[in-house]
Amino acid sequence: MKVVLASKNPHKLVEIDAITRKLGIELILQSELGVDIDVEETGTTFEENSFLKANAVMQATGLPAMADDSGIVVDALGGAPGVYSARYGGDPSMTDHDRKMLLLKNTEHVPDGQRQAAFVAVITLVEPDGRVIQARGEIHGELTREPKGENGFGYDPIFYYPPAGMTTAEMPSEEKNAVSHRGNALKVLYEKLKEAGYADK
Ligand code: IMP
Repeated sequence: MKVVLASKNPHKLVEIDAITRKLGIELILQSELGVDIDVEETGTTFEENSFLKANAVMQATGLPAMADDSGIVVDALGGAPGVYSARYGGDPSMTDHDRKMLLLKNTEHVPDGQRQAAFVAVITLVEPDGRVIQARGEIHGELTREPKGENGFGYDPIFYYPPAGMTTAEMPSEEKNAVSHRGNALKVLYEKLKEAGYADK
C-alpha cells in the first residue's frame, strides 16, 4: 500500500521507511507526486500539527498520508518552545544555531538539577476513509550550559542524555535513533499499525 509522507525531508523518509516497509507500506515523498503543500502549523499540540499536515496531504492526493511533528519541551519554561521549536525566537532569519543559543540564554537562570527537557515526536497517519492512527515518542534529558557535539541537528548539541553520558549531538546517529523521540514514536506506530491490520497487507 502506498502512503504519502507529508514532508520535504528525504532524511525523515529514510528513517520512517525503515519501519513502515516491514508492514508492506510503500512510503513516498509528497514531491514525488508533484504535491507541494506547506501547511500552516496552527495547532497547539504535536498531535494537532502532525494531523493537520497529514490530513492536508491526504486530501490533496486521495492517498493515505503520514506526517510527523516534533520539538523540544523545557520543564522550567512551562513546556516552551514545544510546537514552536522550529520557529523559536520568531525571526525567520534565525538559524538552528541561533535558536539553540537563544534557548540557552533564556534558561541561564535555571539552576542545575532543574534543567529537565524532552524531545517529543508525534507521527500521524490519516487514511482516506477518515481513520487516524497516532503515535507519540519522547526522550528525556537535561539542557546543557553550552553546545557540545557535531552530530544531529537543531537542539541536539544542548540536549544531554544521561543514560549515554553525552549530548545527543555526540551520539552516533544509529545510537540516537534507537532511543530518540522519533525512534520511540516509530516503535509505537509499528505496533499500532500491526493492530490495525497492516501487517497482513
Ligand atoms: P518540525 O520539523 O516541525 O517537526 O520541527 C521540529 C523542530 O524541533 C526542529 O526544527 C528542531 O529544531 C527540533 N527538533 C526536533 N527533533 C529534534 C532532534 O532530534 N534533535 C534536535 N532538534 C530537534
